[in-house]
Amino acid sequence: MLSNSLIELDRAHLIHPVSSYRSHEATGVRVLKSGKGATLTDVSGRQLLDGFAGLWCVNAGYGQDSIVEAAIRLAARLAELAPGDLNHVYFTLGGSDAVDSTIRFIRYYYHAKGRPQKDQFISVESGYHGSSTAGSGLTALPAFHTGFGVPYNWQHKIPSHYAYRNPVGAHPQAIIAASVAALRAKIAELGAERVAAFYVEPIQGSGGVLVPPPSWLKAMHAVCKEHDILFVADEVITGFGRVGPLFACEEDDVVPDLMTTAKGLTSGYVPMGAVLMSEGVYNTIADGAGKAAVGHGYTYSAHPVSAAVGLACLDLYENGLLENGRRAGHRLMQGLRALADHPLVGDVRGRGMLAAIELVTDKELKTPLPAEADAARRIFDRAWDNGLVIRAFAQGVLGYAPPLCCTDDDIDGIIERTKTTLDQTLEDKDVRAAMKG
Ligand SMILES: Cc1ncc(COP(=O)(O)O)c(C=O)c1O
Repeated sequence: MLSNSLIELDRAHLIHPVSSYRSHEATGVRVLKSGKGATLTDVSGRQLLDGFAGLWCVNAGYGQDSIVEAAIRLAARLAELAPGDLNHVYFTLGGSDAVDSTIRFIRYYYHAKGRPQKDQFISVESGYHGSSTAGSGLTALPAFHTGFGVPYNWQHKIPSHYAYRNPVGAHPQAIIAASVAALRAKIAELGAERVAAFYVEPIQGSGGVLVPPPSWLKAMHAVCKEHDILFVADEVITGFGRVGPLFACEEDDVVPDLMTTAKGLTSGYVPMGAVLMSEGVYNTIADGAGKAAVGHGYTYSAHPVSAAVGLACLDLYENGLLENGRRAGHRLMQGLRALADHPLVGDVRGRGMLAAIELVTDKELKTPLPAEADAARRIFDRAWDNGLVIRAFAQGVLGYAPPLCCTDDDIDGIIERTKTTLDQTLEDKDVRAAMKG
């Protein structure tokens, strides 16, 4: 029997697809406990014939014991663990549809507020926010735009905080000032009354692991609050201990209005993402809809198998994995920083278990590796041959995001094999020629 407290948790934290949030709060959930063939049994023991196969999907009928509790418990635990008042959770199948869902929720939010003209979205160059039809336009990597007709004319960018090659130099205060000025200028250009939201990754992942200076996030958040703009933290990579705390924005003491997560939520074992919503955003949407359904939802929102895996992962994080990740992350960063003297290493950056080294043939001039010889691919293959899987970004940036369960030996192995790979690359004819030239 589903306990009353579980029904209360569901009311308080789990956003159901295509429903009136207020009606759901008033009536609670209708809970099915089990199913066999085409027959469902609800929590009171009443039997029902399923004339709709779930949501036109359970073609093979029912047979397994239901595990409906998992989604509710996961939503409640995420709400408890997430910063501030991010208390309402909408589950998706991954990161891209989490980002896409935020775009829809934000548009709905401003309609509910009677300000539909607030429909312009800003994100950051080199950012990645997935490859959905709308979300790919918030992404700022050329390959995700070319030939796809994005970004749309309501999607705008400001320059990245990328410290190593920043025109304002690498000083943290200069970078923060430049980003704040760029965001203010973009808001002024569009008109604050038209800007809906600003999207950031606390550390840019797919753009080459670009780490903003401490307090950068806080400064950007402050500009958004000043102009009544929603702040969205895309924690698809940085969430769940990748950079130390459970969520990266905790480091800068920032509570976003919406947060997107995926990946580490289920440790990649099954597909799942989640949008976390603040009380303010949730209540505006819920009031705006009243008794009508908020028309956003997927067949597999809050899939119980994914939710069960999510719960198991949260147990792991809380029972030592987060702590181990912190320790291992410290060792990883130390090990990589010790490679800074290597003739090919121009920059070492990262936080916790998310890092990159950027290779150059001239440290003074910051000359990238010779592009024509596909250095990144070659280094990836060579690392593989040396028994190391890394991510090679364009222009010789090597990315690291090892599992949080790494032992000291694992981390030392990663560093050692990186060094071997770099030493071998140093012997390549074209690299040597470029270094002499
Ligand atoms: C920051 C960020 N947002 C969104 C996504 C998209 O997630 P998914 O690949 O699960 O759709 C990714 C994927 O790498 C990501 O790094």
